[in-house]
Amino acid sequence: MSELKGSQTEKDLKEAFAGESQANRKYLAFAKKAEQEGYVQVAKLFRAVAEAETIHAHAHLRILRGVGSTEDNLKAALSGEAEEFTQMYPRMIRAAQDGGFSAALRSFSFANEVEKVHHDLFEGALNSLGNQDTADYYVCQVCGHTRAGKTEEACPVCGALPETYLKVD
Ligand SMILES: [Fe+2]
Ligand SMILES: [Fe+2]
Repeated sequence: MSELKGSQTEKDLKEAFAGESQANRKYLAFAKKAEQEGYVQVAKLFRAVAEAETIHAHAHLRILRGVGSTEDNLKAALSGEAEEFTQMYPRMIRAAQDGGFSAALRSFSFANEVEKVHHDLFEGALNSLGNQDTADYYVCQVCGHTRAGKTEEACPVCGALPETYLKVD
């Protein structure tokens, strides 16, 4: 077997992983819309195909050796989050400000703030890996702010009411 690293197939796997991942999220958004419009069967179809796209994405990622031990994965995740709030989003925020794209600016700014929280959550998990502490995680449905434990306070990032948080198992 030839070396995957540096090959066209490695590039293709990355492209296919990105495409399938995006199709998954897009179809879930389409399913929500179909649900709102009363097309229950179409919503189901979008969710089923979204699930299949996840299987494709994960298969591509496995071949890319993109999944390591949980310790390695936490390290990869926290450095990915750090890259987003130190490089990617600051650059995008500046361009959106310069261009006067207020909706994009708001979306980037929310994500940027929340990536810092994600980074810290991953770092905490890495530092306490193996501890048996339990907590439920809650996600703000407006901005994605993520917290351990239920709260009665508004979202610190977007100001949404505590009821907008959904528990994620
Ligand atoms: Fe994040
Ligand atoms: Fe929020």
